[in-house]
Amino acid sequence: MAIRYEVTPRKGALHGFLDRQWEKVERALHGKHYDDFKWDCKRQHIIARDGQKPVGYAGLYIDGGVVVLDELIVHDHYRGRGIGRRLLENTEALARRLDAHKITLETDDGLKAAIKLYTSCGFRKEATLPRHYGKRPTTIYGKQLDV
Ligand SMILES: CC(C)(COP(=O)(O)OP(=O)(O)OC[C@H]1O[C@@H](n2cnc3c(N)ncnc32)[C@H](O)[C@@H]1OP(=O)(O)O)[C@@H](O)C(=O)NCCC(=O)NCCS
Repeated sequence: MAIRYEVTPRKGALHGFLDRQWEKVERALHGKHYDDFKWDCKRQHIIARDGQKPVGYAGLYIDGGVVVLDELIVHDHYRGRGIGRRLLENTEALARRLDAHKITLETDDGLKAAIKLYTSCGFRKEATLPRHYGKRPTTIYGKQLDV
């Protein structure tokens, strides 16, 4: 039988096929099918505001029970006042509520303030990627929540 291969930006009506096939793989690996929300939740946004004005943001999602914190930024006029630390604490609290077992993030080695913040909050270096985003040296940090 000739199989056709289609490249498309739309997944279409594949959910039934993907759900059933992944469920079998998960059951073989873990002995159970994971709750979709806990396992792969939609993007969550933690916003710090001064009045109505946004002054800080943490963006994350869950992939396979791991919170991926892929955006953290504080307005440059508001840095050094504890907002970044509070955003990270809120991220950890949300991760625990969602029953995630780990938080992971990647940071450019030039972002010294961020690295100091992460290590002071218990994140450990897990891997170094000498040429990653923009061919820049990048480090993966992680924090286990279930130990
Ligand atoms: C990293 C960032 C989010 C920190 O936010 P912040 O609100 O200024 O941080 P806080 O005031 O909560 O400080 C928390 C800790 O971060 C570290 N830190 C913050 N500013 C620092 C600086 N200028 N130099 C060194 N360490 C610094 C310190 O460990 C500090 O703890 P301490 O006050 O007990 O010493 C902010 O600097 C930022 O938005 N940077 C640009 C974007 C960025 O680098 N994002 C991370 C991408 S991975």
